[in-house]
Amino acid sequence: EKIPLNIEVNGKSYKMETEPRETLLDFVRERLQLTGTKKGCDHGQCGACTVHVDGKRVNSCLTLAVMQEGKKITTIEGIGSGEKLHPMQASFLKHDGFQCGYCTPGQIMSAIACINEGHANSPSEIREFMSGNICRCGAYPNIVDAIVEVKN
Ligand code: FES
Repeated sequence: EKIPLNIEVNGKSYKMETEPRETLLDFVRERLQLTGTKKGCDHGQCGACTVHVDGKRVNSCLTLAVMQEGKKITTIEGIGSGEKLHPMQASFLKHDGFQCGYCTPGQIMSAIACINEGHANSPSEIREFMSGNICRCGAYPNIVDAIVEVKN
């Protein structure tokens, strides 16, 4: 069964079709070929799939594409401007906020939301907000440092 879907992703409007069980994660990765958003666990435990929906962070594996009718989605591909990195990307580079990099797109989307949603007032508040983003390499202290710098 095909369902029409009007959606804006990274500032671009799409008229697409989706299926009832297609997750937002599969939609952005497989239908739009925006593969920066990663599939780690596919059940809400790792944060690798984090995107913004109308400016709020969402685990894209836990929501269906069909539920995003008329919404504005931002993925990691949409945060920089042209060749210029988003300040959070630059700060992750500066502070070595990643090692293998697999969790990084989700970490950065959460990190931006952490500040925008007002949860970056102290390192402990940042750690709490970021606790849904798992990093197997253990880059957590550097990630917190990166967020602190952008916040200040
Ligand atoms: Fe969505 Fe792990 S892939 S939380």
